[in-house]
Amino acid sequence: MWASMGGCVVVVVVLWSCLALGFLLAFLIHNISPRLPSKYERSPLRAFLRDLIRYGKTKQRNRDDWLRVFDVPKRWFWHFYAVSVVWTGLLLVLSLQVALQGQPYPQWLTSSLSFLCGVQWDESRAPQVSTLLVQLLLWGHSLRRLLECLLVSVYSQGVIHVAQYVFGMGYYVILGLTVLCCDNLNDAKGVDSLFHQLDLGHLSGAALFIWASLLQHSSLVTLARLRTGSSGAAKTFDHGVPHGGWFELVSCPHYFAELLIYVSLGLVLGGLSLTWWTVVSYVLFNQAVAAQLCQEYYMKKFECYPRRRCAFIPFVL
Ligand SMILES: NC(=O)c1ccc[n+]([C@@H]2O[C@H](COP(=O)([O-])OP(=O)(O)OC[C@H]3O[C@@H](n4cnc5c(N)ncnc54)[C@H](OP(=O)(O)O)[C@@H]3O)[C@@H](O)[C@H]2O)c1
Repeated sequence: MWASMGGCVVVVVVLWSCLALGFLLAFLIHNISPRLPSKYERSPLRAFLRDLIRYGKTKQRNRDDWLRVFDVPKRWFWHFYAVSVVWTGLLLVLSLQVALQGQPYPQWLTSSLSFLCGVQWDESRAPQVSTLLVQLLLWGHSLRRLLECLLVSVYSQGVIHVAQYVFGMGYYVILGLTVLCCDNLNDAKGVDSLFHQLDLGHLSGAALFIWASLLQHSSLVTLARLRTGSSGAAKTFDHGVPHGGWFELVSCPHYFAELLIYVSLGLVLGGLSLTWWTVVSYVLFNQAVAAQLCQEYYMKKFECYPRRRCAFIPFVL
């Protein structure tokens, strides 16, 4: 389990693997829990853990008062992306300075990277084009999501747990550092050498990224239109049954698109970064849990809900 490189623990790999395992466990427990004795089902620990995993429409309405103390509004989702736009943007600018001008990363960053990546950071080396491209795509993703939260999505009175909020604030900070840990640093500097590194993996990864981003955006627009009239103003805050496009195949195409976005970044990184695939496995299990809860919510609330729709991955899950 403990990933090591030259005898040092690669903290980011351990971190993402633990998160992935946590959500895989949550997925498995959720699926076996109907078969557990009801005393486990009603225990306060179970209620607390359930409250930590669920958010928004899948959080149960009849929760105890002590659990509601931890609620914060789900419409604060934009805070995560605002942090990410600033942080990922800063890391991108610093990487460009290293790659193009030969300036080293600042000391505070190399110390953090040495700790997280399990290797002494060599200040004389420059990031590869893969890393710069992933940083750019991640920054674009965060900006789009920020704008969608502020300008497209219509939020109800849904809530998230304060622990989920704190986690979300730290998520993109660690993610930005993880991208740098995936880099196979090289000696080359300058625009020409960066240009010569470009290959088919970068192009196919970027193409998948763009397609998945469009899918995610159109899915979020469809959800928003369930609440707005033709004027664009909110008419209701109820949840409706989404129809059209990929919603005919899965209940949560925006979660499927999220997975594809992370897979596409893995392709841009060359497809062989163990560190990045642990991030992808976290996104896979995290979004699988969210999609299954969402699917169950729809099935329970709407009798007419199309039963043949999968929750997350078309024709699979
Ligand atoms: N990488 C990660 O770890 C991670 C984690 C979480 C989310 N995400 C991504 O962030 C994006 C948003 O996630 P989310 O969980 O907030 O999605 P979501 O629960 O589907 O909500 C998206 C928006 O649509 C509204 N909505 C949801 N279902 C609706 C329905 N049936 N009828 C009308 N409106 C509806 C929500 O309002 P209310 O909920 O306020 O009612 C919210 O405004 C997704 O693309 C997801 O992939 C990524």
